[in-house]
Formats: sequence, C-alpha cells, structure tokens
Amino acid sequence: MDFRQLPLARANRLINHGPVVLVSSCHHGRSNVMTAAWAMPASHTPPMVAVAVGPSRYTHELIMDSREFVVNIPGIALLDAVWCCGTNKGRGMDKFAHCGLTPVAGKRVAAPLVKECIGAIECRLADHPSAGDHSILIGEVLAVWVRPDLFDERLLVEKEDARTLHHLGGRDFFPSGAVIRKPE
Ligand SMILES: Cc1cc2nc3c(=O)[nH]c(=O)nc-3n(C[C@H](O)[C@H](O)[C@H](O)COP(=O)(O)O)c2cc1C
Repeated sequence: MDFRQLPLARANRLINHGPVVLVSSCHHGRSNVMTAAWAMPASHTPPMVAVAVGPSRYTHELIMDSREFVVNIPGIALLDAVWCCGTNKGRGMDKFAHCGLTPVAGKRVAAPLVKECIGAIECRLADHPSAGDHSILIGEVLAVWVRPDLFDERLLVEKEDARTLHHLGGRDFFPSGAVIRKPE
C-alpha cells in the first residue's frame, strides 16, 4: 500500500490522540528505528511535533548528527515490532530487518519511512531542549504521509487497520477504540 501525501497542517491529526510511534533516523547511511510513547504535536504554525528521547539511545545520536527524523504511526497489528524496536538497541544491529520492518524512502529527509505503518511525519530537528533524563526533540514538519484508505480529514481509528497502540507502561498497551463526537 503506497502512502498519500497530506498538507503539513494535518500532521497533528496523526498523533493528537497519543499513539505509540516509531521514530526512524539515518546518518551516513546508518538507519535505525525505535519505539516512543512520548510524542505529541507542538505547534500549528509552523506545524511542529515533539518526541522525548533519552540521550543514551542510538536514535538520539543519529538525530543529533543528521538533524532529521521521521515519526511513524504503527497500527495495532505491529505490536510485536513496536516491542522489538523498544527493547533492542540499534547500535551494531539492523533493527528494521531484526524487527521485520521495511524502510522506504521519504521525500524530504534521508531517514526512512516504515512501510508497514499507517502514517508518517518527516521532520527537521528545530530544537532539542533537555528535560531531566530525556531530550525533547522538536521537529518542524516537512512532509506528512498516510495510507489513503485510513484517513479522511482525520485518522479513521474506528477502521481495524487504523487502530493505534497506546502505552500504559511496562508490557501493557490498549488499542484505540470508538470515537465520540461532541455535539454542535
Ligand atoms: C512501549 C515503549 C515505549 C517507549 N517510549 C520511549 C520514549 O518515549 N522515549 C525514549 O527515549 N525511549 C522509549 N522507549 C525505549 C526505547 O525504545 C529503547 O530504549 C530502544 O531500545 C532505543 O533504541 P535505539 O538505541 O536503537 O535508539 C520505549 C520503549 C517501549 C517498549
């Protein structure tokens, strides 16, 4: 399934509801992907997103060196890969291959998109303030991609393939469920 590009302002519609994400990165031909539960939209204009990444992560090193990253949104079918990317260190390992994921080229950054995900946000590192034992990696949104059958103004999380994973902590996750809409 190919991705369809969306306007940059739509990036927040992919992560507004707080799904677990896969952060991909690349520097000098070395690609990596890690799981992050701590991701959020951070600005409307310009569109920006933020992910809290520990400085010990290989991902942190690749992003600081390349100044780029991609926030990929996995569906619930990728639980095993999410766990794999969150419990293995990419230094000295091809984590894409090890975790059964396929890197595909994006448009604006060298970091690959994760083909099996339901959406992806290409980012340029705008700032990286420290917050205790994590860095808040703030990315300016450069391109937004989504599986065309799973997005209609918003992510259609009621469709089985678009249900997302939400992390409670430890090995516990819950899947997104029914949407309730505030009446006019
Ligand atoms: C469900 C889950 C959520 C996680 N969320 C984060 C997070 O938000 N930030 C972070 O720095 N690490 C998080 N981690 C830990 C990293 O994914 C983990 O340390 C990983 O091995 C780092 O990979 P790397 O060294 O290849 O970059 C999470 C792990 C799991 C399993």
